[in-house]
Amino acid sequence: MRVTVVGSGFVGQTTAMRLVERGLAEVVLIDIVEGLPQGLALDMRQSAPVVGFEPNIVGTNDYADTAGSDVVVITAGFPRQPGMTRMDLLGKNAGIVRDVVERFVPGSPNAIIIAVTNPLDEMTFLASEVSGFPKERVMGMAGVLDSARLRAFIAEELGVSPLVVEAMTLGSHGESMVPLPRHATVDGKPLAELVDEATLERLFARTRDAGAEIVGLLKKGSAYYAPSASAARMVEAIAGSVDEPLPVCAWCTGQYGIDDVYVGVPARLSSRGVAEIVELDLNEGELTALRAAAEGIRAKCADVASL
Ligand SMILES: NC(=O)c1ccc[n+]([C@@H]2O[C@H](COP(=O)([O-])OP(=O)(O)OC[C@H]3O[C@@H](n4cnc5c(N)ncnc54)[C@H](O)[C@@H]3O)[C@@H](O)[C@H]2O)c1
Repeated sequence: MRVTVVGSGFVGQTTAMRLVERGLAEVVLIDIVEGLPQGLALDMRQSAPVVGFEPNIVGTNDYADTAGSDVVVITAGFPRQPGMTRMDLLGKNAGIVRDVVERFVPGSPNAIIIAVTNPLDEMTFLASEVSGFPKERVMGMAGVLDSARLRAFIAEELGVSPLVVEAMTLGSHGESMVPLPRHATVDGKPLAELVDEATLERLFARTRDAGAEIVGLLKKGSAYYAPSASAARMVEAIAGSVDEPLPVCAWCTGQYGIDDVYVGVPARLSSRGVAEIVELDLNEGELTALRAAAEGIRAKCADVASL
């Protein structure tokens, strides 16, 4: 597989590194800053004999080098600074995402797009509008990250390995995240039997604000280890090596009673992109929250196509 990662900042470069280190794909790393992707790619290639991977990675400022990509991961754009919401990035990042999509689409007309740039739901919609690709070939990364954060917090709370915790969040990347406590398990046991309601709410709130917590600590820039791991996981699923559905920002066509909007839902990914949106058994409260998140995104996207 050939994957282009647009943006060679913290999320882009760590995503690229994870992809080549896992032997998942050859990678083209691109950025507007001259020398940055070239230098990073050179450094990563020199790690290959030590880490033990074979796929090539090249750095470039020229979109001609990205031609023929199977997947394009868009990480170009500004991250949050302390006190900012993701929506504060909309104006600046919309221009960047529009520009990069216009540049790579002619050379990679059959690619699958994974948007990562924030605000995530809106940038996924914009990438879809600008590319004109079939909706199933454009998706956004947020749910894998939010779910991973929730799983990590549950593991910490209970003092267990994160590997025995299953949990999923749907909805939007931000305030309208929809956690699914009934579907969360620890070593196969329902989470709700292991913690009380107040603890659940505290874990959900910390998950919803996890990005801001890291921005506040770093003071400059935002999270990238878990975000890059999550984007790489989606590429892995597209490559066919993940059996279970992943929560991704995908275009709904009636699933969960939601139509014609991008929102976080569980989906099976394949070389076609979003192969299937999986409909979990949600109760009325969960459904209402998911539909409200979808309507919130729809409203925010109303003007996005013109940005
Ligand atoms: N979806 C998520 O869950 C999630 C998680 C973490 C970060 N993010 C977002 O990802 C984005 C990147 O974060 P980061 O920490 O890597 O930021 P960063 O500042 O480290 O890197 C951004 C890179 O984009 C490049 N860039 C800017 N304009 C460009 C253009 N027109 N073409 C190509 N490259 C361009 C910059 O030169 C820079 O290298 C931010 O918008 C951040 O909010 C999303």
